[in-house]
Amino acid sequence: MSKCIAFHSYKGGTGKTTLACNSAILLAKRGYSVCLLDLDIYAPSFHLYFSKEPRKWINDFLTSSADIRDVMIDVTDSLNNQRRQSDTIESIKRDDGNEVEVTGKLWVGFSNPQKKEIFKLEIADAETKRQAIRRFVQFREILTSELGADYIIVDTSPGIRFWSINSLAIADILLLTLKMSDLDIDGTRIVAEEIYRFFIELGSKAFLVYNMVQGYCVPREAVSVKEGLSNLSTYAIAQPLLGDVTSVTQLPQRLNEIEDPGSISTNLGVEIISFIPCYCDIQFLKKEFLTVIKYRHHPFTSQIEKLIDTLS
Ligand SMILES: Nc1ncnc2c1ncn2[C@@H]1O[C@H](COP(=O)(O)OP(=O)(O)OP(=O)(O)O)[C@@H](O)[C@H]1O
Ligand SMILES: [Mg+2]
Repeated sequence: MSKCIAFHSYKGGTGKTTLACNSAILLAKRGYSVCLLDLDIYAPSFHLYFSKEPRKWINDFLTSSADIRDVMIDVTDSLNNQRRQSDTIESIKRDDGNEVEVTGKLWVGFSNPQKKEIFKLEIADAETKRQAIRRFVQFREILTSELGADYIIVDTSPGIRFWSINSLAIADILLLTLKMSDLDIDGTRIVAEEIYRFFIELGSKAFLVYNMVQGYCVPREAVSVKEGLSNLSTYAIAQPLLGDVTSVTQLPQRLNEIEDPGSISTNLGVEIISFIPCYCDIQFLKKEFLTVIKYRHHPFTSQIEKLIDTLS
């Protein structure tokens, strides 16, 4: 039985694509068969990330009878080659001296970035939309039966548009990704109450993932300057808090002392499972979606490892 995990957020730019890709790659590296889907129908990005063009797009699967093997591309070999070819990649050796391979499989499904194809799904008549939804529900079953998927990782569009919400329908686990800004927190609270609650009632599990939490990149000096001010900002306090935290479960309670990232969690019974710091070096990487494979010892990779440990 496969497990389907979707990354969604109220606002854009919270790190859904980065987290989804790295989580999928890490699961494949651990030996699982993983299908990674670009269901950011409105602003697809996987074709740029993976520099691939499939024979058929997810759009074709939803609107016609495209075969799953034309839609999903096996990128496992290119991940292994990526690591060998790039001179920026540390040499990854196991204790016995052998190279660590991605031993599972990573299949990727791409959304069509062409404007007319996006519009086709967006402004389709009711019957076409119903048909697309039926195909969409079959999608998960077919990925499991034909490709033997252990995990299906879904990247979605932000917000509450038609396909943003429908993309969540096939997921067992919804990861609600947000940053610690008021807009993100308030927006997520509204979406949680109006939308996620519905999926939770249907049996999905939902968790909050705070991403790009201040603290890692802010220099210590900034903390001491701020310490002299009576109205301390979050980032000033997050640094010392993050500094000695040994487990993610310690963090929510301590950050609660600063502002209230836990209030959505409390009101909805949605647990916070991750506080991922903002790593500027990740942000400016050319291929941040490959971080877990390129930088195995980067703290970002440890964060994704922990996230996956909690979910798998
Ligand atoms: N923990 C992190 N530390 C630093 N940078 C990060 C982190 N997570 C994501 N980013 C960066 O934030 C930017 C936005 O990330 P990403 O594209 O994954 O967000 P998104 O939620 O998918 O956006 P959209 O809603 O537009 O699809 C990227 O430049 C990415 O490298
Ligand atoms: Mg994205």
